[in-house]
Order: sequence, then structure tokens, then C-alpha cells
Amino acid sequence: MIIISKFKYKNILPIIRYIDNMCFNEYEIYDDDYLLNLIKLCSIYIAIDNIKNTIIGYMIIENKENINYLHSIAILPKYQNQKIGTCLLNYIPHNSILLCVKRTNFIAQKLYINCGFIKKSIIKNYYLISNNEYEDAIIMSKNI
Ligand SMILES: CC(C)(COP(=O)(O)OP(=O)(O)OC[C@H]1O[C@@H](n2cnc3c(N)ncnc32)[C@H](O)[C@@H]1OP(=O)(O)O)[C@@H](O)C(=O)NCCC(=O)NCCS
Repeated sequence: MIIISKFKYKNILPIIRYIDNMCFNEYEIYDDDYLLNLIKLCSIYIAIDNIKNTIIGYMIIENKENINYLHSIAILPKYQNQKIGTCLLNYIPHNSILLCVKRTNFIAQKLYINCGFIKKSIIKNYYLISNNEYEDAIIMSKNI
């Protein structure tokens, strides 16, 4: 069984690092300082495999001036496509959320559209994807 909960302890960094290494490429991974700062500022929600007693996904949400910003969401590959990302997104109490997603990350976009997000605009060349290549970001929001 999968349980979703708000993470209340400080030592989440290695867990996020582990999940990120499994889910993102080297250009997509936040560095430790940035991640530590996010952990201080944001709410972290986790998905737990209750049988194995392990954290199998997380979501980082920042609430700033009444806007909720989704910084990151990731589910371990073995657990993907089982609606756990959907459960995480639907768990948060805030209704208004803003996020950025890569133009080619169609799976994440599907998740967001399923959860009620709409595409708002595009930021050209927002993400660094290799030494000298960039990719556009799509800004999506829900109830904004
Ligand atoms: C994006 C991500 C968080 C989605 O989480 P998830 O638990 O797999 O998503 P869900 O099971 O709730 O499914 C959401 C939609 O994505 C689709 N999807 C999920 N995994 C898929 C896969 N491997 N192949 C094709 N479609 C997939 C599902 O089909 C679903 O839509 P549908 O049920 O209407 O068909 C997860 O794929 C992930 O961690 N990806 C790597 C990190 C990432 O890209 N994060 C987002 C950064 S903006």
C-alpha cells in the first residue's frame, strides 16, 4: 500500500538525492546548496511504500505570497505509471499552483493536465539540457 504524507524531519536531502539520481539526468538535478535551501523554505510531501517501509517519491512545494510553486516532483521508475504522482499532487491542501515543465516532458504534462492544470505560456530556452543546448519551459497553472 502507498501512503502520502507531509515530511516533517530534516534529513530528507539524501532521500531526494537518491530519487533524483534515479529520475533525472545530470543537467536536471539541483545542487546540494539549492536543494537544502528549498527544503528549508518549502513543504515536502512524500509517497511511502508501506510494505517495504521506503520513500518512493516526493514533491516540493513553495508557498509564497499566496502562490504555490511546484519546484519538483519525482517517483522512482519502478513505481511510475501507478497514479502515485497523481495522488501526491491531489494531496496538497493548496488549490492554486504554478509550475514549469520541459516542453518535451510529455509524461509530466499528462500528469498535470489530468490533475487540472492548464498551459499558460512558454519561456524560450529556459532549461540547460547539455553543454550548449537549451529547451523551452511550459508554464502551467491550476486555479490561477
Ligand atoms: C512525471 C512523474 C512524476 C509522474 O508520476 P507517475 O506516478 O508516474 O504518474 P501517474 O501514474 O499519476 O500518471 C500520470 C500520467 O502520466 C502517464 N504516465 C506515467 N508514466 C508513464 C510512462 N512510463 N509511460 C507513459 N505514460 C506514463 C500516465 O499514463 C498518466 O496518465 P493516464 O493515466 O491518464 O494515462 C514521473 O513519471 C516521474 O517521476 N518522472 C521523472 C521526473 C519528472 O519528469 N518529474 C517532473 C518534472 S516537471
